[in-house]
Amino acid sequence: MHTITLIPGDGIGPEIMSAALEVIKATGVKIEWEYQEAGLAAIEKYKDPLPKHVLESIQRNKLVLKGPLTTPVGTGFRSVNVAIRKEFDLYVNLRPVKSFQGIPSIWHDVDLIIFRENTEEFYSGIEHYIDASKSAAEAIGIVTRYSSERISRYAFEYARTHKRKKVTIVHKANILKYTSGLFLEVGQQISRDYPDIETNDKIIDNFSMQLVMNPHQFDVVVTTNMFGDIISDLCAGLVGGLGLAPGANIGKDVAMFEAVHGSAPDIAGKKIANPSALILAAAMMMRHIGEFESANKIEKAVAKTIAEGKSVTKDINHANFVDTQGMVDAIISNL
Ligand code: NAI
Repeated sequence: MHTITLIPGDGIGPEIMSAALEVIKATGVKIEWEYQEAGLAAIEKYKDPLPKHVLESIQRNKLVLKGPLTTPVGTGFRSVNVAIRKEFDLYVNLRPVKSFQGIPSIWHDVDLIIFRENTEEFYSGIEHYIDASKSAAEAIGIVTRYSSERISRYAFEYARTHKRKKVTIVHKANILKYTSGLFLEVGQQISRDYPDIETNDKIIDNFSMQLVMNPHQFDVVVTTNMFGDIISDLCAGLVGGLGLAPGANIGKDVAMFEAVHGSAPDIAGKKIANPSALILAAAMMMRHIGEFESANKIEKAVAKTIAEGKSVTKDINHANFVDTQGMVDAIISNL
């Protein structure tokens, strides 16, 4: 029996979380869930978006399945997602990007893995207005040798153990000569320990264009926090949208699984959210805890449901769609 902390999240979070729980239950894997509230729900109840007892639950269980959490834009509390990643030093953000048969997207057979450094740079939260009249604002993005080394090492190790052929280091070292420059230098140093893996690097602007023109040239990508955040959504768009993109946040002791997308307030409560991204994140979690057969079964059932095209949500098929529960039912019958 596994005990796992479960945070349903805000917006579409509770809808897609109950979908993921149904699918996990149908695999027969025994999991005891420790329900915890964070984000808007926790503010209402505890006046704190990330109460201490939630952190204690994560510390105890070392595993989290999390729905998306809303972060106010511009003002208000800081991101709870970023706070959890920092608190437990979840330095790896692993985001697989894979094409599904049956999705009307510009590219097919895309198969990329993005490794985003998850703890520093412009997400360190060191920013302020320079004066009381807010005439200017300053943000400090810190890139350390230590963090660059460990994310690069993780990406290269992953490439080797998963029989991947190439790692691309993505940066902006032509302009950010010290921060992005350090990340590139360290990545290239680490690459020397992996002569069996081809390494190249790309400047983020050119990389973005090439991703859209020819994504097949890339295999494993390693990059800093903000570039990783942006290209994750770009890559999700390449294979059919945010409803299909899962992610894992991994540290030395704790791992947290979630969708790449956010709380989608524009569709919350409408029962039209695509549950696949969180279900696929749950499959990543199953693999992480050694439940390989169930993980494979879930991934195949999602792929089959999408390929059949009869029971998919509106984001996938505008003309012929079902609601969230309709898609979950189809995934379960395809398990
Ligand atoms: P978003 O990812 O929530 O939504 C972007 C667009 O994609 C929206 O049109 C939405 O309807 C659509 N979408 C997202 N997930 C979908 C799904 N499963 N099925 C169908 N359509 C889907 O990004 P947005 O609107 O910029 O952010 C909303 C909130 O989410 C913000 O407060 C943001 O801070 C937060 N957020 C949280 C994340 C997390 O918890 N890890 C990650 C990204 C954003």
